[in-house]
Formats: sequence, structure tokens, C-alpha cells
Amino acid sequence: MKGLFITLEGGDGAGKSTQISNIESFFRERGFVVVHTREPGGTPIGEKLRDILLDRNNGEMDPVAEMLIYAASRAQHVAEVIRPAVNEGKVVICDRFTDSSIAYQGYGRGLGDVVSEVNASATGGLEPDITFWLDIDPEAGRERAKQTGEPDRLELEKIDFHYRLYEGYKALALAYPERIKRIDATRTPDEMKGEIFAHLEKLCAKE
Ligand code: TYD
Repeated sequence: MKGLFITLEGGDGAGKSTQISNIESFFRERGFVVVHTREPGGTPIGEKLRDILLDRNNGEMDPVAEMLIYAASRAQHVAEVIRPAVNEGKVVICDRFTDSSIAYQGYGRGLGDVVSEVNASATGGLEPDITFWLDIDPEAGRERAKQTGEPDRLELEKIDFHYRLYEGYKALALAYPERIKRIDATRTPDEMKGEIFAHLEKLCAKE
């Protein structure tokens, strides 16, 4: 039996961690083996690449180099963790995936379509079964994120960058309405959980 691949997306302060725990409980209670992972990272090689990507001292990183390092982390992650787990019938819940690169590097950095092309190679065409985009306005998200510690290299970007990547998520949600479910992240965590669980029930009924 094939498993499921679920991803969560959104800008800063959208509340992904809480909803990831909820999704994990949803599947564990139904007897599934769940793999919770994240990007960048998720493998020993990926975690080293993550340190490079988020290091605030790497302010001079070239945008193309940045896109390729995210893609390198993803290629390793798909090969070593995600694809094998899904093939074994597990439920993989991943904090960010290719949509993040399209939003942050494609729209945020302005690299455009090349990001999808590079990522098609990195993932070997693997796509999530469902993606939850936790939608929060960049200004509000930034305010919330401030309360959770020191900002990393991407979080330090000017607000314009965050508005551009927000446009990226909006465009992705429009382009892939079957896969990407928009969840209003200004609602309470419990309301968001209810909406997410309704989508998961439907997805499980289809499988
Ligand atoms: P992380 O601490 O995981 O952020 P968050 O809690 O917001 O998910 O850091 C990941 C950062 O890297 C985040 O700012 C988004 C960014 N990112 C990209 O720019 N491109 C990508 O492909 C991915 C996966 C993340």
C-alpha cells in the first residue's frame, strides 16, 4: 500500500508547528506510521545545508546558489527519507517543500520559472498528495514570529520580500486548487485544526 505525503506551507508566524502536531495525531490515532520531517533538512546532509542556508552571517549568498542549496537538501531528502517512507505505506508530514522554493526563491528573489525546473529534477517529480497553506498576511505573521526567538537569515529580509513570496503562495494556490488547501491562519488554532481534519477525512475516504 502506498502511503501519503503531506506538506505544510506559509510565511513566518503562520502556526505550522501546532498544526503539524495535530495532523500527526490524526494519523497515529488511525493506526498509521507517521514520519514528521522538515525542509531545509530532514537528513544529516540536509541539516548541514540548513545551517548554511539559515546562518545570518551568510548575508552575501547569491540567489541562484541559495535556490540550488535548497534543492540539494530536497533531493537528498526525497531520496533518503520521503520516497522510501511513502513506498512503505507511511504518512510523511513535511514542514515545507517545493512550494517554499517557488514562493521564496521564485517570487521573493525573483528567479521565476527556473525554480520549478530545478526542483523537478531534485524531487524526481514527487508531489505532495495534499498541501496546507496557512495563510497569514506578512505583516501580521512577522509580528507573531517576533515572539518566537531570534530571526534567521530569511526572516531578516525586508517586508517587501515577504509580500512578494506571499504573492507566490497566492499564485500557487490558484494554480493547484486540488492539491493546495488554503487555511485562514488568522483563525484560532482549533478552528484551523477543524478545517484541516475535514480535508484529511475527505482525502482518506478517497484513498
Ligand atoms: P525554518 O526555521 O524552518 O522556518 P519556518 O519556521 O518559517 O518554517 O526556516 C526555513 C526558512 O527557509 C524559512 O524562512 C523559509 C525558507 N525556505 C526557502 O526560502 N526556500 C525553501 O525551499 C525552503 C524549504 C525554505
